[in-house]
Amino acid sequence: MIVPWRDRHGRFLPLKAAVLAAGFIPGAVLAFWWATGALGGRPVTEVIHGTGDWAIRYLLISLAITPAARVLNWPRLLTVRRIVGLTTLAYALSHLTLYTVDQNFRLGVVASEIVLRFYLTIGFIVLVGLAVLGVTSTNGWSRRLGHWWKRLHRAIYVLGAIALLHYFIQSKSNVSEPVFFSGLFAWLLLWRALPMAWQRSLAVQLGLAVVAACIAAGIEFAWYALATGINPWRVLAASETLRFGLRPAHYVALAGLAVVVLAALRRIKTPMWLRGRLVSSSGAGG
Ligand code: HEM
Repeated sequence: MIVPWRDRHGRFLPLKAAVLAAGFIPGAVLAFWWATGALGGRPVTEVIHGTGDWAIRYLLISLAITPAARVLNWPRLLTVRRIVGLTTLAYALSHLTLYTVDQNFRLGVVASEIVLRFYLTIGFIVLVGLAVLGVTSTNGWSRRLGHWWKRLHRAIYVLGAIALLHYFIQSKSNVSEPVFFSGLFAWLLLWRALPMAWQRSLAVQLGLAVVAACIAAGIEFAWYALATGINPWRVLAASETLRFGLRPAHYVALAGLAVVVLAALRRIKTPMWLRGRLVSSSGAGG
């Protein structure tokens, strides 16, 4: 039987096994909190939010795999892309299932709410899109669809943008998290738009961190200006200083800087004397 943690020859794949196992952790933690009464009076609502959060987090992680593999010079990472994509789908499906539970399994109500409420309609579109990408993610489908496969799977960028809009609309007045995720999403899209030769440049990555942070601040400004009665200039002013603590745009800049630091560390060559020690200690360990 083919299982994701073994290759075609039956050899164990530790990276794939670890990523697969890690995918279950947030769900298990949410289930544990629910079972132990740690989620307060409306546990279903909390778990709907938790699974939605993890769906969007995994969507961003799936988009981060290609840049991470290139920037960190770690091509093996590409082998876990499918598992991470399917984990995104699993959390999105659980999210809809829990919404159905919250509606006491009245499927007619669920369907009419999805049709009538814009933020649920677009959530449903993302879910259907993720399901199509999940089903067609196999090698068989990739062969069958040829060059159309790549085009189809590029839909993930549009689905990501729509999922973020779903997140913004339901967040009401505090949009710090969706703003942060939008900044990361902007980084991931801009990195892909760079010429190949620039993608590994530390200077360009530094610039990208600044640009993605500015985009996050711009999105936050636009959201407060268009969707709330809150003065957007005051929100923007808070991002220009650290007096009010770290704002989402600052966290985006920090995430961008973390990429530069990791990429730089990865380039430091292990000195010969240390390499010798590492080899001898692994030999001594059997
Ligand atoms: C038919 C599909 C979907 C339905 C019916 C749905 C429904 C909901 C509902 C009811 C909420 C909570 C709203 C509130 O409490 O006011 C929510 C929040 C959320 N949803 Fe969805 N959703 C769907 C699809 C998706 C998808 C595909 C994603 C991500 C890929 C997603 C991500 C989120 C996120 C991030 C939140 C906010 C969580 C938080 O505030 O912590 N949803 N959704």
